Amino acid sequence: MIDQTTVNQILDTADIVDVVSDFVSLRKRGSNWVGLCPFHNDRKPSFNVSRVKGIYKCFSCGEGGSAVNFIMKHEQMTYVEALKYLAAKYHIEVKERELTDEERTAQTERESMLVLNEWACQFFEDQLWNTTEGQEVGLSYFRRRGFSDATIRKFRLGYSPESRTALYSAATRQGYSRDLLLKLGLCKDDNHGGAFDFFRSRVMFPIFNIAGKVIAFGGRTLKKTEPAKYFNSPDSPVYNKSSTTMYGLYQAKRAIAKLEKCFIVEGYADVISMHQAGFENVIASSGTALTEGHIHLLHRFTDNVTELFDGDAAGIHAALRGIDMLLREGLNIKVLLLPDGEDPDSYAQSHSLSQVEQFIAENEQDFIRFKTGIVLADAGTDPVKRAKAIDDVVGSIAVIPSEITRAVYVQECAALFGIQEDVLLRELQKRMRRLRDEEYKRRQREQARQQDTQAAPAQIQQTTTPPATGTTPPPPSQPPVPAPAIVRRPTQVRLTDIVRQERDVIMYVVKYGMCYLCDTAYDDGTQQPTTVTEFIQSEMEIDQIELSEPLHKRIFDIATAMVQPFYHDLEAYKRDTEAWKQDELRSRLQNLDPTGLTSNDLQTREQEITAAVEQQVAQRIDLYRQCYLEKRLTSHPDDDVRDLATDLVTEKHQLSKIYTQNGYVATEFDRLFTLVPKAINAWKNAVIADKIRSLQAQMQHSGSTAESAQLLQRLQELFRVRSELAKLIGDRVVNPK
Ligand code: GTP
Ligand code: MN
Repeated sequence: MIDQTTVNQILDTADIVDVVSDFVSLRKRGSNWVGLCPFHNDRKPSFNVSRVKGIYKCFSCGEGGSAVNFIMKHEQMTYVEALKYLAAKYHIEVKERELTDEERTAQTERESMLVLNEWACQFFEDQLWNTTEGQEVGLSYFRRRGFSDATIRKFRLGYSPESRTALYSAATRQGYSRDLLLKLGLCKDDNHGGAFDFFRSRVMFPIFNIAGKVIAFGGRTLKKTEPAKYFNSPDSPVYNKSSTTMYGLYQAKRAIAKLEKCFIVEGYADVISMHQAGFENVIASSGTALTEGHIHLLHRFTDNVTELFDGDAAGIHAALRGIDMLLREGLNIKVLLLPDGEDPDSYAQSHSLSQVEQFIAENEQDFIRFKTGIVLADAGTDPVKRAKAIDDVVGSIAVIPSEITRAVYVQECAALFGIQEDVLLRELQKRMRRLRDEEYKRRQREQARQQDTQAAPAQIQQTTTPPATGTTPPPPSQPPVPAPAIVRRPTQVRLTDIVRQERDVIMYVVKYGMCYLCDTAYDDGTQQPTTVTEFIQSEMEIDQIELSEPLHKRIFDIATAMVQPFYHDLEAYKRDTEAWKQDELRSRLQNLDPTGLTSNDLQTREQEITAAVEQQVAQRIDLYRQCYLEKRLTSHPDDDVRDLATDLVTEKHQLSKIYTQNGYVATEFDRLFTLVPKAINAWKNAVIADKIRSLQAQMQHSGSTAESAQLLQRLQELFRVRSELAKLIGDRVVNPK
């Protein structure tokens, strides 16, 4: 673990222009720097770097982030590797943080496992290349399959000998513990205090994580009589079959990112042969169904996926299965059926690079089109079957998140099915409504379940009408005004509308969390300057609302935890700035040439200079406040936090400049005082709208009139709160200064 002070030092030192310039040539344009984007095939410079914000953003492909993100993405490094890279660049000494006992145990175990796996990998390689058995059985097998020596070395293929304890004896001789060997699945307990090798007489395929560490193995038997062709390592603290990696990703990741495309094949041998043939953007699902974890991992590298399948009936069926999950994730899916009887391995081995390329170009099909073709052919002219086929395809289109993509498919499929577009569109809308209803019901069930498991019956929540925005919020210590009792839905409300409004609020936290917003008046008569984060926090406390999206909550918690350290750092920064101010004033005043000036003139000039320097100081402090949280969040070790923060900071709606009637240009920053309360109110409004919906649903199913009356009363109360909120939202006319 890198020590937090070191991390801060790295983030504060790294200059994004300097970091990016090592890879991209940048020109100054206005206050930014621009160049050709290294992440896509850029013709005009669309890659923007802001030194002040410490952020890069490509306006063409959308890539964006901090210096750490840039290195991670460009050099395909992990977070920690990227930090170490930057530390080395700026000659910052990396201090490793002292781990807690628990962390140390977990960490050491993981590290020991990786060390042992690396050792085992070398052991298998050594057996393959340097022993008679390895050469005669393993190496000759690989060569017979057409793998070149360079390929065998690139994938670090190996051989595990026939002897029962070859690896076990060698490992224990080296001092590796039996316990670890068992945990990694390299050996099996012999129930007599010893162990024997799990992989025997098998050729070995090490499995790497994204950083290139060996985390597991697949071992292929060479005997026809063995029931299982492949043995695979079991899950362990360093390997999770369904989420950690996909076979070949480590070797393929650069090519995938560069070519913006990935091929998925089934087996180890397919990946290896395709690589050898010159296709480096190939990974394998290793014979198992793809999981969401895999897709999430893959999605970090590309949006475009082509699955390769055998051209037989089984292959076609496989192609139709499981792909909805990829669609749901927003990936663009194509399928490629190989000629009957071929797999990617055999095809790549028996054809030249250009032949394979040509085959792909001619036969790659968009998944929806492919599916439409198959189900239509199956249905023939039977109208009932055709209707079912249409339904089937519409089901796949419905899960696609992008509206535009859906629209394009509707158009195309209508043509393919020979029906009118709006018929298909209605069908799709019906389907999507059903999906939404199902989602809604699922949520309700979940809530009911959680409510049941709660010790107390439905809790009563106090809500207050939100305080008029723009005025100072009442201090949290003051008891909230008694207000209508509302049945609280204790679980997280997962309506997209709410989530969207929350996201807006979180955007202000990420971008301006430590900026000054207003003063808060306290009971004892004192007033305290309040940051955006603190303001939002107190609003949430007063109205007892919580962020429903876990990631939003995580980011907000990080922000609130940083308020205190921020004030501390701000003091130090102010002291430095004060020192700078004194120097600056002194030198400017010294340079002031008094000849020909009256003492009055001189005094005016001195005042002007002082005012100018003070303005600079204020600007510096504003900038420090603006960057503090943003920098830490866009470079945060947590991948999800970093990704969302980056999205929020670099999102296209750069409405940072707003023109008003009198031509005054107000930036988002200037208008925080209006914008932040507005965002909070919009969020509250969404929460109330959701409560209204749920009450209305309850009313429809309510049994007794007494209950109905009670529900109605609550509903009316909610309507009242909503209309007040609406007034507040509507009231906030843009009218800065
Ligand atoms: P070759 O038969 O050597 O061409 O291997 P392959 O890598 O092409 O494998 P195949 O296409 O037969 O299977 C695809 C993948 O499924 C393999 O790479 C393995 O990951 C997995 N697999 C195949 N057979 C087994 C098995 O018996 N057990 C397990 N656990 N996995 C298997
Ligand atoms: Mn094969």
